[in-house]
Amino acid sequence: MKPKTIPSNREIFFDQSEMIVSKTDLSGRLTYANKVFMRIADFPEEALLGVQHNIVRHPDMPRGAFLALWETLKSGQEFFGFVKNMARNGDHYWVFANITADMREGAVVGYFSVRRPVTAQALQIIEPVYRQMREIEQQAGAASAPQASLKWLMEQMKAQGTTYEKFVLDVFQQSQASA
Ligand SMILES: Cc1cc2nc3c(=O)[nH]c(=O)nc-3n(C[C@H](O)[C@H](O)[C@H](O)COP(=O)(O)O)c2cc1C
Repeated sequence: MKPKTIPSNREIFFDQSEMIVSKTDLSGRLTYANKVFMRIADFPEEALLGVQHNIVRHPDMPRGAFLALWETLKSGQEFFGFVKNMARNGDHYWVFANITADMREGAVVGYFSVRRPVTAQALQIIEPVYRQMREIEQQAGAASAPQASLKWLMEQMKAQGTTYEKFVLDVFQQSQASA
C-alpha cells in the first residue's frame, strides 16, 4: 500500500556527481534501488523492493507525463523526462530520468531508470508546463485526464517545431551547460 504523505514543499537535493538508480519489473514494481535512491527518498530497501514505483510519486506530477513514459517504453523506445518525486517525509526532489529496457536473452524483462539532478534553470521551463498539464487534467476529468494533457503537450511541441524528446534533452543539456 502506498503511504499517504502530505507534500512538505521542501526541496531536497543530491549532488551532480550522483545518480539515483532503480530497476523494475514489467509492471513498474521495484526490483532494485541504489544507495542514493534510498538516502534521498529516505526509504529502506525492504520498504521498496516489490512495491510499485509510484511510492515516490508526487501529486504535482501530471498523469500525462506517466502516460508518455509508459507509452514510450511499451513501444520499445527509451524515455527521457523530468520528474518531481516525493521522499518518505513529503519533501520533494526533481530528477531528469532516462528509462531503458532491461533485456535478457532478447526479451524485455523490466526497466532501468538512471536519474540526474535538475537545475533551477530547467525548472523555470518545466514547472509551468506541468502546471498547465495539471490544469488541463482537472478540466478534462479523471477518465480522460492523462490523454488530454499529453495531447496538449504534443501540440505544444509541434507548434514549437520540436518533439517531446528533443525538447526535454535540450532543456536538460542547456541547463547543464550554464550550471
Ligand atoms: C523504471 C521506471 C522508473 C520509474 N520511476 C518513477 C519515479 O521516479 N517517480 C514516479 O513517480 N514514477 C516513476 N515511474 C512510473 C510509475 O510506475 C507510475 O507510472 C507513476 O508513479 C504514476 O503512478 P500512478 O498511476 O499510480 O499515479 C517509473 C516507472 C518505471 C518503469
